[in-house]
Order: sequence, then structure tokens, then C-alpha cells
Amino acid sequence: MMSLRTILITGGAGFIGSHVVRRWVERYPECCVVNVDKLTYAGNLANLKDIEAKANYVFVRADICDFDAMQAIFAKYAVEGVIHLAAESHVDRSITDPFAFARTNVLGTLNLLQAAKLAWAGNYAGKVFYHVSTDEVYGALTDNETLFTEATRYDPHSPYSASKASSDHFVRAFHDTYGLPVKISNCSNNYGPYQFPEKLIPLFINNIVQEKPLPVYGKGENVRDWLYVEDHARAIDQIFHEGRVGDTYNIGGCNEWRNIDLIKVLIRVTDELLGRPAGKSEHLITYVTDRAGHDLRYAIDASKLRRELGWEPSLQFEEGIRRTVRWYLDNPVWLNEVTSGEYQHYYAKMYGKI
Ligand code: NAD
Ligand code: DAU
Repeated sequence: MMSLRTILITGGAGFIGSHVVRRWVERYPECCVVNVDKLTYAGNLANLKDIEAKANYVFVRADICDFDAMQAIFAKYAVEGVIHLAAESHVDRSITDPFAFARTNVLGTLNLLQAAKLAWAGNYAGKVFYHVSTDEVYGALTDNETLFTEATRYDPHSPYSASKASSDHFVRAFHDTYGLPVKISNCSNNYGPYQFPEKLIPLFINNIVQEKPLPVYGKGENVRDWLYVEDHARAIDQIFHEGRVGDTYNIGGCNEWRNIDLIKVLIRVTDELLGRPAGKSEHLITYVTDRAGHDLRYAIDASKLRRELGWEPSLQFEEGIRRTVRWYLDNPVWLNEVTSGEYQHYYAKMYGKI
């Protein structure tokens, strides 16, 4: 498969970004991968230890909100393609600090679009600006049958999803107004190694290990559609190379779980892998006040991606969850550094403040 000479991946030190960077560096050795990341609390270069010395990998610490820095990166590396993942990504944080989400997700995306437009100057042959988005822009499903399709009306409810919806609109506007060759995908909930332990699955695995309470929002009846992160990275790869310019693709696991049922699977698998008696950790389940504006159900219709590009999730959920729990149990140093914030002091010393 032909690939570009230089690709800029934003947010490559985060959860999904690190899997996308790893995939590109290993699969496309002829392509130079420039990972641009601000290293916020969610960015951790330890996520990329295994590939950081590869000849086709470069890390640049920069804020996507810094327009001059983005322009300089496009010029210095002659960037031909972008996969834009950098974002503030946690819904609970967006409720307490919505401005950070507007800054990075909206203004940061606009900066990158403008930098790409100026750098490519209408010479769009072979160029791609790929924006990674979320199913949360579609809002909440209130019945058990409907699925989000690419035609579902946008109806975001949290500051996070509102900021992602806004960024999607800017991406489409740059295509419609300036002809920028964009692609967008909207994916459901990801899980797997290197996810920051503030999100449901890694937080709960860590709490089960440490015998801490498992804070279930509301009645635990909200439904999410879970996809193993490497399957998302593979979908991004296929859409980047084979998807239609100007088009949108939904990505999902076809794998819906009520939170409380998923939590019971996590307890079963984690207890088993720790050698604890079955059900030992169930008493840790603690119902707490619901998340404000908590969307009831997300579920993706990914049939367009299957029909047009032949993509399907490869991993059964039980297998994906086992791999994930095992990874967290096998990587206590990563987990300790992340939960103690130690890695942040290290980067602050190495790179200073930006
Ligand atoms: P994450 O929070 O784990 O990582 C985000 C990365 O972006 C971090 O490395 C962080 O340092 C970097 N970043 C944040 N602000 C930045 C800035 N101003 N400049 C440069 N870098 C910055 O996020 P994730 O879960 O890996 O999500 C990645 C993308 O995928 C996001 O755009 C998110 O909206 C989207 N998405 C996530 C999921 C999911 O389930 N996690 C599902 C669908 C879509
Ligand atoms: O749908 C895609 C989205 O999935 C991504 O765009 C977001 O970046 C990602 O964070 C995720 O959003 P959610 O809000 O669905 O994920 P989170 O892991 O925060 O929560 C999953 C569900 O679990 C949700 O219904 C809230 C609930 N929950 C979460 C936490 C952290 C709890 O009950 N207790 C918790 O402590």
C-alpha cells in the first residue's frame, strides 16, 4: 500500500494516538511519522517506549493551539498528511473546565486546518487531513433499537461532545469552502492498553486491584458500544488510505453493554487473573450521584465502513477485556507513574513549560 512521505499525528502520546503512531511506524517504514503532542496530563511518552528509537519516528512537543508552531512543523517536515487525535477527551473534566475543551478541541483544530490549508496552498493532490471524532456528537439514544448512522443529526450534550461537534463542523467547512481534502470518523468507546485510568475500564481495573470503591454513576444503566483500541487504529488506517475524501465513517464495536453488566465482567476477569475467589470484589460496587447530562445510550451502525472498506472488529469482547486486564496487571510501573503523576514531573523537567 502506498503511503505518504511525512505524516503528522497529533495527540500521539495519548491512548488511541499511541496505538496509531505505533501502527504507522511499524507498518509504513518509508513514512516519517511526526508525533506532535503537548503532553498534558493525558500524554505520556512511556506509551511509545518500544518505538521511540525507530528511524522513521520524530516527537515534537507542541500545543496545537500555537499557530506559529503548527506552521513551522508543516514547513520543517513537509507534512503531506495529518491524523488529528489531540484533544481534551474526558467528559467529566469537560463539566468542570469547559474552556479547556473549547480551546484545544475547537481552536486547536481550527489552527491545524488553517496551517494545512496554507502549507498545501491548493496543491491538494495526495494530501489528507483526517480528523478523529466521536459518536458522542450524535447525542443520546433513548430506545434500545436505534443506531447512530453517518446521517444522524448532531445533538451533543456535554461540553466535550459540543466541542468535538464544533470541530467536526470546522473540518467540513474547510472542505466545502477551500476544498481541503478532509476525512472524518466518529468512533464509539475504546478500551485497551495505555488508557488513562480516569476512564471507566482502566479506573475500575485499578480500583479492583487496590480494593477501592467502584463509583457507578446513577443506576449503572447507561449503555456504551465498546471497541478494542487496535481495531480503531486499523479502521483509521483503512479510512486514511482508502476512504473517500470529504466523507464521514462511523466506527463501532457492535458490542453494547450496560455499565453495570460490563463492571461485573471486569470484576470476574480481574478477580480470576489475580487468583481471588469468584465475586470477591463485587462488594466494591458503589452507586454514586449521576454524571450531569449523562447520555443514556450510544450505539454505532458501522455498516458503511464494512460495506465500503471491508472493516470489521477483529476481537471478541471477552478476549479484548482479558488482554486489557492482563496488560494493566503486567504494567504496575506504568500505572503507578500515571496515578502518582510522576511522569508529569519528568516531562516538566525535560521540556519545560508550554
Ligand atoms: P487522550 O486524552 O488519551 O489523549 C489525548 C492526547 O492529546 C494526549 O496525549 C494529550 O497530551 C494530547 N493533547 C491534548 N491537548 C493538546 C494540545 N492542546 N496540543 C497538543 N496535544 C494535546 O485521548 P484519547 O482517548 O486517546 O482520544 C484521542 C482522540 O480520539 C480524541 O480526539 C477523542 O475525542 C477521540 N475519541 C476517543 C474515544 C475514546 O473512547 N477514548 C472514542 C472516540 C473518539
Ligand atoms: O463514545 C466515545 C467516547 O467514549 C469518547 O469520545 C470519549 O473521549 C471517551 O472518554 C468515552 O466517553 P464516556 O463518557 O462514554 O467514557 P467514560 O469511560 O468516562 O464512561 C463510560 C461510562 O461509564 C459512562 O456511562 C459513564 C460511566 N462511568 C464512568 C466513570 C469514569 C461511571 O459509571 N463511573 C466512573 O467512574
